[in-house]
Amino acid sequence: MLINSNLILNKALKEGYAIPAYNINNLEWTRFILEACNEDKSPVILAVTENAINYMGGYHVVYNLVTGLIKDLNINIPVCLHLDHGSTKEACFKAIDAGFTSVMIDASDKELEENIEITREVKNYANKKNVSVEAELGSLSCEEDSVDKKVNLINPSDCSYFISATNIDSLAPAVGNKHGFYNTDDEIDYKLIGLVSKEAKIPLVLHGGSGLDNNKLSTAIFCGISKININTDLQLAWTLKVREYLEYNKELYDPRKIIKSGETAIKKVVHEKNKILGCINKIYCNCSS
Ligand code: 13P
Repeated sequence: MLINSNLILNKALKEGYAIPAYNINNLEWTRFILEACNEDKSPVILAVTENAINYMGGYHVVYNLVTGLIKDLNINIPVCLHLDHGSTKEACFKAIDAGFTSVMIDASDKELEENIEITREVKNYANKKNVSVEAELGSLSCEEDSVDKKVNLINPSDCSYFISATNIDSLAPAVGNKHGFYNTDDEIDYKLIGLVSKEAKIPLVLHGGSGLDNNKLSTAIFCGISKININTDLQLAWTLKVREYLEYNKELYDPRKIIKSGETAIKKVVHEKNKILGCINKIYCNCSS
């Protein structure tokens, strides 16, 4: 069953663990993630970027792919279908209209008041369909950025103002986190997470969950993070495995065998992360539709 993220994130916040948001790219990845989480009895957020949606064919394709897999594979955990980094309110509206149960509006590159204005419009639209809304404050860098580009850390008092002005359901603050690979001198500001968490009183999201060791992930959760986004770790694990498989099977040309050869690698990452995040056996209902 598809649910919005409120119930699972608020329960995680209250009980001190985190829900994983795994990025999906195609049918196989979605299937592997759903099966691994179902085995773990862990709630899961399937995160899809606009690029991934375009790659797969569109919002309705993604919605039907996810709901079809849930039905045909008898997945009975809470699953949230989430637009990751919605770049415009129109992108969020499209996701909501297609049946997504959660959206992120990322207007973090705008001035605070403009971010509030856009986020508020998305929240009003989402409310009509019981869709949860995540928004971002401060901006994250990614590995393509120059080394001296500083992550724009947030100010905790801006967070409480932003939350009360927009009524969002979860907040992704910039706390030294980064998409893709971390450099050795990159540091997550755990104290800042703690300060924001105390002020915010809503679930906080850590983007850039890949490349952080178990200790860092656990500390982030301890300081107040309730959702952790993971993409690059899955991509790396899958690619390494498929490359190795092709190396040893040079005559192979069956695409199903090639894509599926990365299945164990993806499932291994998912099981490991679920364990660290503490979300195993945290389903609150039998959610078969
Ligand atoms: P990573 O690719 O660094 O795991 O980040 C994922 C993410 O934050 C998606 O929004």
